[in-house]
Amino acid sequence: MEEELIGVKNTALSLILDCDNLKELEELRLQFLGRSGKLTLLLKELPKLPLEKRGEIGKLANEVKKTIEETLENQKSKIKNQNFDAEKETIDKTIPGIKPEIGHLHPMTQVLSEVVDIFKSLGFQAADGPEIETDYYNFEALNIPKDHPARDTQQTLYIDTRNSRIAAGETLLRTQTSNMQGRIMEKIKPPFRVIVPGKVFRYEQVDASHGFEFQQFEGFAVDENIKMTDLFGVIEYFFKKFFGEKTKVRFVCHNFPFVEPGAEAYISCNACKGKGCAFCKNSGWVEILGAGMIHPNVLRNVNIDPNKYHGFAFGVGLSRLATLRYQMDDLRLLTNPDMRILEQF
Ligand code: PHE
Repeated sequence: MEEELIGVKNTALSLILDCDNLKELEELRLQFLGRSGKLTLLLKELPKLPLEKRGEIGKLANEVKKTIEETLENQKSKIKNQNFDAEKETIDKTIPGIKPEIGHLHPMTQVLSEVVDIFKSLGFQAADGPEIETDYYNFEALNIPKDHPARDTQQTLYIDTRNSRIAAGETLLRTQTSNMQGRIMEKIKPPFRVIVPGKVFRYEQVDASHGFEFQQFEGFAVDENIKMTDLFGVIEYFFKKFFGEKTKVRFVCHNFPFVEPGAEAYISCNACKGKGCAFCKNSGWVEILGAGMIHPNVLRNVNIDPNKYHGFAFGVGLSRLATLRYQMDDLRLLTNPDMRILEQF
């Protein structure tokens, strides 16, 4: 009986594996597993075996049956795959394909490259600099000595240096990209025009138009004959290029220790078109930059003769620029990783 079972299994498997069409495969199934199939007939003999042999042989018979069934199934799908004929399938080849999703630049990065392009066209070079900065470049080189009240306006985050040799309060997260004025001006000789985009940090109350971490870009130019009107011209040119000819720019006096005279500029709010919204605090105007003529002390600190050279400097809120460009009424959307937001830009 044992030998017969194994014999049936071997014949079945070799016939099944040789078979290449579904009709014959079905015939083979009947031949072995059908009502009067070879295996079925053998199984009928089981009860006739002596009791002690029945268990063992029964087990073998089940295994044989299972193997034959599995081989039949596998061969069936193999034949089906081989016979697949694309021409006979009812596929509508004119249906447009599904476009795979491709990533794109973050809105912030898009705005940044646009800004750099506009300033490059005006002869500015772009530079980069450290976010962890010394007190000297962030404040002192900019005519803001220790204890100067202007430090209060820049809620500074200091690095904890207790376990190092650095004195307390000497290392900080830069509060402004103006830190790069000193770093760059001490290395290059006038005339020069530079812009420096980058991240800045302030311990600030976060709201629709303020973040504790945001982006700015600094711009400065030094030459023999630079005047305040050059500054106004560059700023206005930039905003009209960036937001369109209809954009209005408003300058008001403002004090920054590193410029004299100093100014702040506001532009008409692009998020609400001047009507008033949360972003512009219902005023229709958005404070977008600080600027002025570089203070003689700043030039002296970097060994540039203030009697020969003059310069202007400005610092623009790049994050605000991005929100205004895309008419977002909240700065926090720029740092939100939700793809449903990012996919819109
Ligand atoms: N650094 C100033 C700020 O962050 C802006 C500024 C830059 C003002 C350059 C004047 C000149 O508020």
